[in-house]
Amino acid sequence: MPRIEALDVAKRFGRITALDTTSLTIEDREYVAVLGPSGCGKTTLIKLLSGIWQPSEGRILVDGRDVTALPVEDRDLGYVFQNIVLFPHMDVWTNATYGPWVHARHKEDVDHVGTEVLDLVDMLGERGLFPSELSTGSQQKVALARALANRAKLLILDEPLSGLDARVRLDLRYALRRVVKDLGLTAIHVTHDQEEAMSVADRVVVMRKGRIIESGPPETLYDRPKGVFTANFIGESNFLEGAVRRIRADWAFVEFRSGYILRVPAKGLLEGDPVVVAARPEWIALTKEGFGNVIPGRVEGRVFLGATQRLQVRLFTSDLVSVDVPASQSLNTARDVLVSFHEANILVYPRPYEGLQEALKLE
Ligand SMILES: Nc1ncnc2c1ncn2[C@@H]1O[C@H](COP(=O)(O)OP(=O)(O)O)[C@@H](O)[C@H]1O
Ligand SMILES: [Mg+2]
Repeated sequence: MPRIEALDVAKRFGRITALDTTSLTIEDREYVAVLGPSGCGKTTLIKLLSGIWQPSEGRILVDGRDVTALPVEDRDLGYVFQNIVLFPHMDVWTNATYGPWVHARHKEDVDHVGTEVLDLVDMLGERGLFPSELSTGSQQKVALARALANRAKLLILDEPLSGLDARVRLDLRYALRRVVKDLGLTAIHVTHDQEEAMSVADRVVVMRKGRIIESGPPETLYDRPKGVFTANFIGESNFLEGAVRRIRADWAFVEFRSGYILRVPAKGLLEGDPVVVAARPEWIALTKEGFGNVIPGRVEGRVFLGATQRLQVRLFTSDLVSVDVPASQSLNTARDVLVSFHEANILVYPRPYEGLQEALKLE
């Protein structure tokens, strides 16, 4: 049962640092998503974890055993890539059972494993078809079945759904998570899609510029991200820059441009601190009351989202914010409104020394 540890691993190519010194532990049977913008070092990290590449520094442990020098073929893992790599001249069955067949397992064994893995991904009925006769989604299911047929306990998935249509991607997310949980596997799933990461994984590891910046369960990363990058990269956030004017008991009063003030939890804040206040579109609302945590503004635009509509409101602080309101609420644009902030949800961060825009940049 694999528990994977990366201890201070780094990968450098001459002057290029693909992955800066990083430590990460993945527990047995944990489904971890590695999430970050393109080029941030996700593939590098899993190539080191899987042994495809040797780290420039640091060690990899599996169940406490140092496997840093162990080549990939001697490690017990299944790998699924973004680019589907099936043998075109073999049918679904032969592709799926290739691993056990190469290892010269008994025929009954091969039959048993093939039936099981194709059943898991719902492809038993297509066992006689060739890859060219399958949709890309079905081909990726077969690739997954083939990875599972090796009986590996560690499944590594590098952008496995990126090449697929939106609808198929959704279906396969559920299939992936179900298979991993049913078989009690440990899975590391790399993606640049934040929704995909949050919907498949027990824990999401957020990367940026060759580093892990934070990790946690999807709910925690959404509700209480530790930094502005995560607050922006996962879901959508509105950011307002201001400074703490006063602290009174448990509350801090943050002043924004044009003198508007919001009351936020004071935890960890000092008078005079430059801060960034973050609020998700569903944490703010339109109100009729002119008191409380309210900043006036004017509706500039609207996007229909199905159950809700997302309004673009230009606050009188000059910040543009997104506010979710029920789809049924009728509103004319170019209308003056009062925007109220739920103080229980509001997130407050120290203003990044490099500036907010720089701190939010993907690379
Ligand atoms: N073989 C290599 N030689 C030089 N630079 C590389 C090599 N592989 C990756 N890199 C660089 O390392 C960084 C991280 O790459 P990668 O891990 O593939 O990112 P991701 O998978 O997050 O898109 C990128 O800037 C990439 O250009
Ligand atoms: Mg990659």
